[in-house]
Amino acid sequence: MLNREQSPPTPAPSAPMRFSSPQNAIPTAAAAKSGDFYPPGPKGLSVLAHCLSRQRNPLADLYKAASRYGDIVHMQLGRRHDYLINHPDYIKAVLCAPQNEMCRSAPPVLKRMLGSGLLTSQGDYHRRHKRMLAPTLHKEMVRQWSSVISTYCERLQQAWRHGIEVDIEREMLRLTLGIVLKTLVSAELEQGTDQMAKAANTLIEMTDFRKLPVIDDLLDKIAVGRIRRFKEAKDQFDTILYRMIHQRRTDTSQINDLLCVLLWVRDEDGCTALTDEEVRDEALSMLIAGHETTAHALTWTWYLLSQHPEVEQKLHSELDAVISGGLPRTGDLESLSYTRMVFSEAMRLYPPLWIIARRNPKAWSLGNYTIPPGSFIYMSQYLMHRDARFFCDPDRFDPERWRPEMAARRPKYSYFPFGGGPRQCIGEGFAWTVGLLVLSAIAQRWRLVLSSVQRIGLEPLLTLRPKYGMRMILEKRKIQML
Ligand code: HEM
Repeated sequence: MLNREQSPPTPAPSAPMRFSSPQNAIPTAAAAKSGDFYPPGPKGLSVLAHCLSRQRNPLADLYKAASRYGDIVHMQLGRRHDYLINHPDYIKAVLCAPQNEMCRSAPPVLKRMLGSGLLTSQGDYHRRHKRMLAPTLHKEMVRQWSSVISTYCERLQQAWRHGIEVDIEREMLRLTLGIVLKTLVSAELEQGTDQMAKAANTLIEMTDFRKLPVIDDLLDKIAVGRIRRFKEAKDQFDTILYRMIHQRRTDTSQINDLLCVLLWVRDEDGCTALTDEEVRDEALSMLIAGHETTAHALTWTWYLLSQHPEVEQKLHSELDAVISGGLPRTGDLESLSYTRMVFSEAMRLYPPLWIIARRNPKAWSLGNYTIPPGSFIYMSQYLMHRDARFFCDPDRFDPERWRPEMAARRPKYSYFPFGGGPRQCIGEGFAWTVGLLVLSAIAQRWRLVLSSVQRIGLEPLLTLRPKYGMRMILEKRKIQML
């Protein structure tokens, strides 16, 4: 049988296939050499329109810009240059460039919250920490936490009853927060009573502050409303975490959590450890980076499954055959190939992180253009993952495209939910393990049916959220023992 998706040859960058705009002509070699012009993009008043519409609907705006102007879109506002990059080869070049050529600049509110963790640090400091921390989320480490993941899934399902309606986004957020807190610092998230969980929750809510960037500069001076709650939560979280760090440093009894590993890692010299402050920054960064991303990947997976009964049916058959009603273990994951394809496809259509930005400290060449220093370079997973040049019928949910032979034909950076290069997600292995274990533990026992009154919309904040929540009705399913 022929696969629905044909193997497309990798189109050359700037070839107008989906984005057929006459303005996207490749510049002449002479002009490109001189570097005296910019790629096509909205000009004059339309820059203002672009900025305004970005506030309203950034995804539609990005889509319009890419369709109209092609693989490299340029926008200028005053002295600021923005570029939107829409081709896997260019994305690879930007993401894999050394950090002294391409760096990530974190929003100030995130820096205030996270200090110098992996998410917000730069240069040599970041390189050193990444090298030290990479083994902490190694496959074998993650494997040890599979029982925590399964236990939390069991707990969640104990409260579920056939026929009731739940907001699955909230359920997934609560579940992944519980899992991350437990694996990170052995904190329990029970009935919302744990102080650390409460403080963490408030901090996570505050990441929406980027909606109000002006507040950043006033943050330290004002202490009212949301800002006061943010400061209190940060102080409370820090107090508890530092207490835990001190306890772990003196008490050598084995606790199997990530905090212990952070205290134990050493630099290349074999003796330099992380300071208390560095451990705090890294732990909080992992909490913030790992919780909402995984929860939203799962939420959109449930939504897509509810809309595609044929996929759901196939998933159930695989789960019944492999797990047969038991608790899924990491050892099962290799046999759950269709489950993995479903999760991959859900992250293609709804990538939890929908855009990545970089800045170039020095002038930088991309294609035939020279990008001036200090520009903002954007790459959108949402856009790239729905590009018809690489994904046939791109809006269709079709896990079959992830059959290894089909996936191998696509250029690597046509799909990059976890980024790439020196800033690649350090928690990718952990996210896959949590995602697949949660998906299989729940899907083998329940069907989740979208509520008939649920509106579906996208809210691209720090992660890609469902704008109106995701209310679903629980239907208990009978496991078919094979
Ligand atoms: C489905 C879940 C997840 C997705 C889609 C995701 C996605 C990403 C992406 C795209 C980046 C790179 C951002 C950039 O290049 O600017 C990133 C970085 C990062 N992620 Fe994840 N992530 C997920 C889960 C996790 C988990 C579970 C953890 C930790 C437990 C984690 C920790 C981090 C950290 C610390 C960074 C910064 C890495 C660096 O800059 O060197 N992520 N993530």
